[in-house]
Amino acid sequence: MSLARYLNYASFGPPTARVLAAAHDIDRRAAAGEPAAGLHAADDDAIAAAAGLVGFPARGVVVSPNTSTGLMQAAFAVPAGRVLVPRAEFPANLYPWRRAAEAGRISLGLVEAADPRRPGATEDIAAALTPDTVAVAVSAVSFRTGFRADLAALREAIGDRLLVVDAIQAMGVVDQDWTAADVVVSGGQKWLRAGWGTGFAAFSDRALDRLVPALSGWTGVTDSGVYSGEEHPRRADARRFTMTNGSPAASAALAAGIRDVVEAGVGRVAASVAGKAAMLRRALADRGAEVVTPEEHAGIVVARFAGAAAVHARLAAAGFSTTLIDDDRVRFSPHGNTPADTLAEAVAVACA
Ligand SMILES: Cc1ncc(COP(=O)(O)O)c(C=O)c1O
Repeated sequence: MSLARYLNYASFGPPTARVLAAAHDIDRRAAAGEPAAGLHAADDDAIAAAAGLVGFPARGVVVSPNTSTGLMQAAFAVPAGRVLVPRAEFPANLYPWRRAAEAGRISLGLVEAADPRRPGATEDIAAALTPDTVAVAVSAVSFRTGFRADLAALREAIGDRLLVVDAIQAMGVVDQDWTAADVVVSGGQKWLRAGWGTGFAAFSDRALDRLVPALSGWTGVTDSGVYSGEEHPRRADARRFTMTNGSPAASAALAAGIRDVVEAGVGRVAASVAGKAAMLRRALADRGAEVVTPEEHAGIVVARFAGAAAVHARLAAAGFSTTLIDDDRVRFSPHGNTPADTLAEAVAVACA
């Protein structure tokens, strides 16, 4: 099946051939009885690849089976105080904070967007800051509108407070300095095309200093292979944010997905994805669609249609994979490999 009409990387990125081969190789070795320690070397490899991608030292990075696990870890580790989160976040970046608030660990401030196209805009966050705010958690790219947050400006606005970033809609397709953030969390199942069950979380030195994970399990402590029944101290590095071992096949898949992007060049991929999205955004607007995506975008383009469900169904009938959001908008998310002429065709079908 061709991916030419696949405009849904913001939902799921079909895994690449290299990802499939890497995961299969680990499964084959596991089936042949290779010792677990050798297979888990894939975790170190994935950590090195992810650390290189976001520019964090490897000691600050840990593999994670999805975005939610990393965000739960952060939410149950931040110091007591207020945490600001845009209300328009994907639920994966809302429930961890709600649950941490329910547990009495933090208080949660949901930030409304002055401009609904720009959830997590720096001005909104800056206006909501209070002296007791200890952290801010935003998406690097909004799943809802495609708005791309300005991490450097957010850092400037919040000062020394912790900046937690749900990066899944940007990872591998936005070329920026991730070290403006203290916690960068991403699943690998979208733009990295590494498949479900993959991901990572990266922690700055400040985050490693200040975050004390409640969800730290037996692999999160020193001498985790000593089963003495005694309580061991938490590890100093990011592996303190683990509860148990992950899947080496998932680690191998993540490393392979990242390598695909890094070898192609993150800058080149980002420019290509942004160019395709810009083309789509312009073409939809030219045909009279109400485009919700603002100028600051990466790969996601969202347009509101009267009868959006019918538009979505018409696109599906023509072989285009897109996402219907809240029954009134259609989300298009092409990758660098999406041919330009199929974008024009999708617009013609959507606006027919
Ligand atoms: C912004 C954002 N965060 C998180 C997720 C998914 O979280 P998880 O990786 O935990 O499934 C999605 C999409 O599914 C998303 O759009």
